[in-house]
Amino acid sequence: MEKKNIDWGNIGFGYMPTDYRYVSMYRNGAWDEGVLTSDPNITLNECACVLQYAQTCFEGLKAYTTEDGHIVTFRPDLNGERMENSAKGLEMPPFPKERFVEAVAKVVEANAAYVPPYGSGASLYIRPYMFGFDSVIGVKPAKEYQFRIFTTPVGPYFKGGAKPITIRVSDFDRAAPHGTGHIKAGLNYAMSLHAIVDAHEKGFDENIYLDPKTRTKIEETGGANVIFITRDGKLITPKSPSILPSITRRSILQVARDYLGMETEEREILLDEVKDFAECGLCGTAAVISPVGKIVDHGKEICFPSGMEKMGPVIQKLYDTLTGIQMGHIKAPEGWIKVIK
Ligand code: PLP
Ligand code: COI
Repeated sequence: MEKKNIDWGNIGFGYMPTDYRYVSMYRNGAWDEGVLTSDPNITLNECACVLQYAQTCFEGLKAYTTEDGHIVTFRPDLNGERMENSAKGLEMPPFPKERFVEAVAKVVEANAAYVPPYGSGASLYIRPYMFGFDSVIGVKPAKEYQFRIFTTPVGPYFKGGAKPITIRVSDFDRAAPHGTGHIKAGLNYAMSLHAIVDAHEKGFDENIYLDPKTRTKIEETGGANVIFITRDGKLITPKSPSILPSITRRSILQVARDYLGMETEEREILLDEVKDFAECGLCGTAAVISPVGKIVDHGKEICFPSGMEKMGPVIQKLYDTLTGIQMGHIKAPEGWIKVIK
Protein backbone atom coordinates (compact mmCIF):
# COMPACT_ATOMS: atom_id res chain seq x y z
CA MET A 1 0.00 0.00 0.00
CA GLU A 2 1.40 3.33 -1.03
CA LYS A 3 1.31 6.17 1.49
CA LYS A 4 -0.22 9.49 0.46
CA ASN A 5 2.16 12.19 -0.58
CA ILE A 6 1.98 14.32 2.59
CA ASP A 7 4.76 16.31 4.25
CA TRP A 8 4.35 14.20 7.41
CA GLY A 9 6.99 16.02 9.42
CA ASN A 10 5.29 19.40 9.05
CA ILE A 11 1.60 18.79 9.70
CA GLY A 12 -0.10 20.46 12.63
CA PHE A 13 -3.19 19.42 14.55
CA GLY A 14 -5.85 20.09 11.93
CA TYR A 15 -8.56 18.40 9.87
CA MET A 16 -7.49 16.78 6.63
CA PRO A 17 -10.24 14.59 5.18
CA THR A 18 -9.19 11.01 4.43
CA ASP A 19 -10.84 8.54 2.03
CA TYR A 20 -13.27 6.71 4.33
CA ARG A 21 -15.35 7.23 7.44
CA TYR A 22 -17.61 4.83 9.35
CA VAL A 23 -21.34 5.49 9.91
CA SER A 24 -23.97 3.64 11.88
CA MET A 25 -27.55 4.75 12.57
CA TYR A 26 -29.66 4.01 15.62
CA ARG A 27 -33.36 3.71 14.68
CA ASN A 28 -36.33 1.88 16.19
CA GLY A 29 -34.30 0.96 19.25
CA ALA A 30 -31.27 -0.65 17.54
CA TRP A 31 -27.95 0.19 15.88
CA ASP A 32 -27.71 -0.89 12.25
CA GLU A 33 -24.69 -2.85 11.08
CA GLY A 34 -22.72 0.23 9.98
CA VAL A 35 -20.85 0.98 6.74
CA LEU A 36 -17.77 2.74 5.45
CA THR A 37 -18.55 5.72 3.25
CA SER A 38 -16.51 8.20 1.28
CA ASP A 39 -19.00 11.02 1.94
CA PRO A 40 -17.69 13.41 4.64
CA ASN A 41 -20.94 15.42 4.79
CA ILE A 42 -24.00 14.98 6.99
CA THR A 43 -27.47 16.26 6.14
CA LEU A 44 -29.49 17.12 9.23
CA ASN A 45 -32.94 18.47 9.94
CA GLU A 46 -32.90 22.06 11.23
CA CYS A 47 -34.38 20.86 14.52
CA ALA A 48 -31.98 17.94 15.08
CA CYS A 49 -31.40 17.40 18.80
CA VAL A 50 -27.65 17.91 18.44
CA LEU A 51 -28.21 21.35 16.89
CA GLN A 52 -30.75 22.49 19.46
CA TYR A 53 -29.55 20.89 22.69
CA ALA A 54 -25.97 19.78 22.00
CA GLN A 55 -26.70 16.09 22.52
CA THR A 56 -23.32 14.83 21.40
CA CYS A 57 -20.21 13.14 22.75
CA PHE A 58 -16.95 12.09 21.18
CA GLU A 59 -13.68 10.24 21.61
CA GLY A 60 -10.11 10.70 20.45
CA LEU A 61 -7.43 8.07 19.87
CA LYS A 62 -4.56 7.56 17.47
CA ALA A 63 -3.15 4.98 15.06
CA TYR A 64 0.62 4.65 14.72
CA THR A 65 3.03 2.90 12.43
CA THR A 66 5.39 0.80 14.54
CA GLU A 67 9.08 0.30 13.97
CA ASP A 68 8.39 -3.08 12.32
CA GLY A 69 5.79 -1.62 9.94
CA HIS A 70 2.51 -2.59 11.60
CA ILE A 71 -0.39 -0.20 12.10
CA VAL A 72 -1.60 -0.21 15.70
CA THR A 73 -3.93 1.65 18.04
CA PHE A 74 -3.44 2.23 21.75
CA ARG A 75 -6.01 0.86 24.21
CA PRO A 76 -9.08 1.46 21.99
CA ASP A 77 -11.17 -0.67 24.36
CA LEU A 78 -10.86 2.08 26.99
CA ASN A 79 -12.11 4.70 24.53
CA GLY A 80 -15.05 2.42 23.72
CA GLU A 81 -15.81 2.02 27.41
CA ARG A 82 -15.57 5.78 28.06
CA MET A 83 -17.84 6.52 25.12
CA GLU A 84 -20.44 4.15 26.52
CA ASN A 85 -20.32 6.14 29.77
CA SER A 86 -20.51 9.46 27.93
CA ALA A 87 -23.56 8.26 26.00
CA LYS A 88 -25.32 7.10 29.18
CA GLY A 89 -24.63 10.49 30.78
CA LEU A 90 -26.35 12.25 27.90
CA GLU A 91 -29.30 9.82 27.61
CA MET A 92 -28.01 8.38 24.35
CA PRO A 93 -27.98 4.67 23.47
CA PRO A 94 -24.39 3.45 23.98
CA PHE A 95 -22.63 2.18 20.88
CA PRO A 96 -21.34 -1.17 22.21
CA LYS A 97 -17.62 -1.03 23.05
CA GLU A 98 -16.81 -4.25 21.17
CA ARG A 99 -18.38 -2.79 18.04
CA PHE A 100 -16.54 0.47 18.69
CA VAL A 101 -13.18 -1.34 18.61
CA GLU A 102 -14.14 -3.20 15.42
CA ALA A 103 -15.29 0.01 13.73
CA VAL A 104 -12.05 1.80 14.68
CA ALA A 105 -10.07 -1.05 13.12
CA LYS A 106 -12.18 -0.95 9.95
CA VAL A 107 -11.85 2.77 9.39
CA VAL A 108 -8.12 2.82 10.15
CA GLU A 109 -7.49 -0.07 7.78
CA ALA A 110 -9.48 1.68 5.05
CA ASN A 111 -7.35 4.79 5.54
CA ALA A 112 -4.02 2.99 5.94
CA ALA A 113 -2.42 5.22 3.30
CA TYR A 114 -2.91 8.15 5.68
CA VAL A 115 -1.26 6.57 8.72
CA PRO A 116 2.01 8.51 8.98
CA PRO A 117 5.21 6.49 8.64
CA TYR A 118 7.26 5.41 11.64
CA GLY A 119 9.60 8.13 12.85
CA SER A 120 7.71 11.02 11.20
CA GLY A 121 6.45 12.36 14.52
CA ALA A 122 2.89 12.34 13.15
CA SER A 123 0.02 9.90 13.71
CA LEU A 124 -3.51 9.26 12.47
CA TYR A 125 -6.01 10.87 14.82
CA ILE A 126 -9.26 8.92 15.09
CA ARG A 127 -12.41 10.81 16.03
CA PRO A 128 -15.44 8.68 16.98
CA TYR A 129 -18.55 10.70 17.83
CA MET A 130 -22.30 10.36 18.08
CA PHE A 131 -25.21 12.75 18.16
CA GLY A 132 -28.97 13.11 18.49
CA PHE A 133 -30.14 12.96 14.90
CA ASP A 134 -33.90 13.49 14.71
CA SER A 135 -35.85 16.64 15.44
CA VAL A 136 -36.70 17.60 19.01
CA ILE A 137 -38.07 20.91 20.24
CA GLY A 138 -39.22 20.18 23.80
CA VAL A 139 -36.13 19.53 25.92
CA LYS A 140 -35.78 15.75 25.70
CA PRO A 141 -33.41 13.23 24.14
CA ALA A 142 -33.59 12.30 20.46
CA LYS A 143 -34.98 8.93 19.33
CA GLU A 144 -32.52 8.45 16.46
CA TYR A 145 -28.72 8.72 16.65
CA GLN A 146 -25.79 8.64 14.31
CA PHE A 147 -22.40 7.22 15.33
CA ARG A 148 -19.47 8.13 13.08
CA ILE A 149 -15.71 7.79 12.99
CA PHE A 150 -13.45 9.87 10.81
CA THR A 151 -9.68 9.99 10.77
CA THR A 152 -7.18 12.74 10.05
CA PRO A 153 -3.37 12.76 10.06
CA VAL A 154 -2.00 15.04 12.78
CA GLY A 155 1.23 16.41 14.14
CA PRO A 156 1.81 18.03 17.56
CA TYR A 157 -1.20 19.58 19.34
CA PHE A 158 0.78 22.57 20.60
CA LYS A 159 2.82 24.60 18.15
CA GLY A 160 6.52 24.02 18.78
CA GLY A 161 6.08 20.30 19.51
CA ALA A 162 8.03 19.33 22.60
CA LYS A 163 8.86 22.90 23.65
CA PRO A 164 7.44 23.82 27.06
CA ILE A 165 4.24 25.85 26.98
CA THR A 166 2.79 28.59 29.18
CA ILE A 167 -0.68 28.12 30.62
CA ARG A 168 -2.82 30.44 32.70
CA VAL A 169 -5.12 29.86 35.62
CA SER A 170 -8.57 30.43 34.15
CA ASP A 171 -11.25 32.62 35.65
CA PHE A 172 -13.78 30.61 33.70
CA ASP A 173 -14.99 27.23 34.91
CA ARG A 174 -14.90 24.08 32.82
CA ALA A 175 -17.20 21.68 34.64
CA ALA A 176 -19.39 22.01 37.71
CA PRO A 177 -19.45 19.50 40.56
CA HIS A 178 -22.06 16.82 39.71
CA GLY A 179 -22.01 18.01 36.10
CA THR A 180 -20.52 16.52 32.93
CA GLY A 181 -16.77 16.99 33.47
CA HIS A 182 -16.10 13.26 33.73
CA ILE A 183 -17.62 12.42 30.34
CA LYS A 184 -16.53 13.55 26.90
CA ALA A 185 -19.59 15.66 26.12
CA GLY A 186 -19.28 18.23 23.34
CA LEU A 187 -20.84 20.77 25.67
CA ASN A 188 -17.72 20.74 27.90
CA TYR A 189 -15.72 21.93 24.92
CA ALA A 190 -18.32 24.54 23.89
CA MET A 191 -17.86 25.95 27.42
CA SER A 192 -14.11 26.24 26.83
CA LEU A 193 -14.17 28.04 23.48
CA HIS A 194 -14.41 31.58 24.82
CA ALA A 195 -11.78 30.80 27.46
CA ILE A 196 -9.30 29.42 24.91
CA VAL A 197 -9.75 32.30 22.47
CA ASP A 198 -9.24 34.74 25.34
CA ALA A 199 -6.15 32.82 26.55
CA HIS A 200 -4.61 32.80 23.06
CA GLU A 201 -5.31 36.53 22.63
CA LYS A 202 -3.42 37.15 25.85
CA GLY A 203 -0.46 35.00 24.77
CA PHE A 204 -1.14 31.78 26.69
CA ASP A 205 -1.17 28.31 25.16
CA GLU A 206 -3.94 26.82 27.31
CA ASN A 207 -6.17 27.34 30.36
CA ILE A 208 -5.79 25.40 33.55
CA TYR A 209 -9.13 25.15 35.32
CA LEU A 210 -9.67 25.12 39.08
CA ASP A 211 -12.48 23.37 40.92
CA PRO A 212 -15.42 25.77 40.57
CA LYS A 213 -16.62 25.27 44.15
CA THR A 214 -13.55 26.43 46.09
CA ARG A 215 -11.28 27.69 43.30
CA THR A 216 -8.30 26.35 45.23
CA LYS A 217 -7.67 22.97 43.54
CA ILE A 218 -6.19 22.06 40.17
CA GLU A 219 -8.57 20.23 37.83
CA GLU A 220 -7.29 19.95 34.25
CA THR A 221 -6.87 21.95 31.06
CA GLY A 222 -9.33 22.34 28.18
CA GLY A 223 -8.03 19.27 26.34
CA ALA A 224 -5.73 17.34 28.67
CA ASN A 225 -5.16 16.13 32.24
CA VAL A 226 -2.22 17.47 34.27
CA ILE A 227 0.71 15.67 35.88
CA PHE A 228 3.33 17.06 38.25
CA ILE A 229 6.69 15.75 39.35
CA THR A 230 7.65 16.61 42.91
CA ARG A 231 11.18 17.65 43.83
CA ASP A 232 11.78 14.18 45.21
CA GLY A 233 10.74 12.55 41.94
CA LYS A 234 7.19 11.43 42.71
CA LEU A 235 4.47 11.63 40.05
CA ILE A 236 1.30 13.27 41.30
CA THR A 237 -1.92 14.01 39.46
CA PRO A 238 -5.23 15.58 40.51
CA LYS A 239 -8.06 13.40 41.74
CA SER A 240 -11.45 14.92 41.07
CA PRO A 241 -14.85 13.57 40.04
CA SER A 242 -15.24 16.36 37.47
CA ILE A 243 -12.18 15.75 35.29
CA LEU A 244 -12.04 13.47 32.27
CA PRO A 245 -10.55 10.06 33.13
CA SER A 246 -7.68 10.37 30.65
CA ILE A 247 -6.48 7.10 29.18
CA THR A 248 -3.03 8.64 28.69
CA ARG A 249 -2.88 9.67 32.36
CA ARG A 250 -3.99 6.24 33.57
CA SER A 251 -1.34 4.66 31.32
CA ILE A 252 1.39 7.06 32.49
CA LEU A 253 0.68 6.19 36.13
CA GLN A 254 1.22 2.51 35.34
CA VAL A 255 4.32 3.23 33.22
CA ALA A 256 5.79 5.36 36.04
CA ARG A 257 5.31 2.59 38.58
CA ASP A 258 6.03 -0.55 36.55
CA TYR A 259 8.66 0.65 34.06
CA LEU A 260 10.39 3.47 35.92
CA GLY A 261 9.93 2.38 39.53
CA MET A 262 8.44 5.73 40.51
CA GLU A 263 6.08 6.47 43.34
CA THR A 264 2.74 7.82 42.13
CA GLU A 265 -0.17 9.50 43.83
CA GLU A 266 -3.64 10.63 42.75
CA ARG A 267 -4.93 13.23 45.16
CA GLU A 268 -6.41 16.69 45.45
CA ILE A 269 -3.73 19.21 44.46
CA LEU A 270 -3.91 22.78 45.70
CA LEU A 271 -2.94 25.63 43.39
CA ASP A 272 -0.86 26.88 46.34
CA GLU A 273 1.44 23.82 46.24
CA VAL A 274 2.24 24.00 42.55
CA LYS A 275 5.16 26.39 43.12
CA ASP A 276 6.94 23.59 44.99
CA PHE A 277 6.90 21.09 42.11
CA ALA A 278 9.83 20.34 39.81
CA GLU A 279 8.06 19.55 36.54
CA CYS A 280 4.62 19.79 35.00
CA GLY A 281 3.07 18.26 31.89
CA LEU A 282 -0.26 17.99 30.10
CA CYS A 283 -1.28 14.52 29.05
CA GLY A 284 -3.81 13.27 26.56
CA THR A 285 -4.16 11.64 23.18
CA ALA A 286 -3.63 14.93 21.34
CA ALA A 287 -1.20 16.43 23.87
CA VAL A 288 0.74 13.14 24.37
CA ILE A 289 2.85 14.60 27.20
CA SER A 290 3.36 18.30 26.57
CA PRO A 291 5.74 19.95 29.03
CA VAL A 292 4.56 23.07 30.87
CA GLY A 293 7.30 25.58 31.64
CA LYS A 294 5.19 28.20 33.33
CA ILE A 295 1.77 28.65 34.93
CA VAL A 296 0.56 32.23 35.24
CA ASP A 297 -1.89 32.93 38.05
CA HIS A 298 -3.25 36.45 37.55
CA GLY A 299 0.15 37.97 36.85
CA LYS A 300 2.01 35.79 39.31
CA GLU A 301 4.38 33.49 37.46
CA ILE A 302 5.03 29.96 38.65
CA CYS A 303 8.15 28.88 36.75
CA PHE A 304 9.15 25.22 36.89
CA PRO A 305 12.87 24.53 37.38
CA SER A 306 12.77 22.48 34.15
CA GLY A 307 12.58 25.83 32.30
CA MET A 308 11.21 26.93 28.93
CA GLU A 309 13.70 25.25 26.61
CA LYS A 310 13.14 21.51 26.98
CA MET A 311 11.19 18.86 28.85
CA GLY A 312 12.28 18.16 32.39
CA PRO A 313 14.23 14.91 32.86
CA VAL A 314 11.46 12.90 34.50
CA ILE A 315 8.75 13.94 32.05
CA GLN A 316 11.19 13.14 29.24
CA LYS A 317 11.63 9.61 30.60
CA LEU A 318 7.86 9.15 30.89
CA TYR A 319 7.41 10.50 27.36
CA ASP A 320 10.08 8.22 25.91
CA THR A 321 8.64 5.16 27.62
CA LEU A 322 5.01 5.85 26.73
CA THR A 323 5.74 6.68 23.08
CA GLY A 324 8.19 3.74 22.93
CA ILE A 325 5.31 1.45 23.93
CA GLN A 326 2.98 3.07 21.39
CA MET A 327 5.53 2.84 18.55
CA GLY A 328 6.43 -0.74 19.37
CA HIS A 329 10.05 -0.53 20.48
CA ILE A 330 9.27 -1.07 24.16
CA LYS A 331 7.24 -4.11 25.16
CA ALA A 332 3.68 -3.08 26.06
CA PRO A 333 1.67 -4.38 28.99
CA GLU A 334 -0.76 -7.11 27.98
CA GLY A 335 -3.70 -5.78 25.96
CA TRP A 336 -2.47 -2.21 25.40
CA ILE A 337 -1.68 -2.47 21.70
CA LYS A 338 -4.26 -3.50 19.12
CA VAL A 339 -2.64 -4.47 15.82
CA ILE A 340 -4.80 -3.39 12.88
CA LYS A 341 -2.57 -4.73 10.08
N1 PLP B 1 -9.06 15.97 29.45
C1 PLP B 1 -9.76 16.51 28.45
C2 PLP B 1 -10.66 17.64 28.77
C3 PLP B 1 -9.62 16.01 27.14
O1 PLP B 1 -10.30 16.56 26.13
C4 PLP B 1 -8.74 14.95 26.91
C5 PLP B 1 -8.61 14.38 25.57
O2 PLP B 1 -9.14 13.35 25.25
C6 PLP B 1 -8.02 14.42 27.99
C7 PLP B 1 -8.20 14.95 29.24
C8 PLP B 1 -7.09 13.28 27.78
O3 PLP B 1 -7.74 12.06 27.66
P1 PLP B 1 -7.08 10.86 26.87
O4 PLP B 1 -5.75 10.65 27.48
O5 PLP B 1 -8.00 9.73 27.11
O6 PLP B 1 -6.98 11.28 25.45
C1 COI C 1 -7.90 14.31 22.55
O1 COI C 1 -6.77 14.36 23.03
O2 COI C 1 -8.28 13.33 21.88
C2 COI C 1 -8.85 15.38 22.74
O3 COI C 1 -10.00 15.13 22.63
C3 COI C 1 -8.32 16.72 23.06
C4 COI C 1 -8.78 17.79 22.14
C5 COI C 1 -8.28 17.64 20.74
C6 COI C 1 -10.23 18.02 22.22
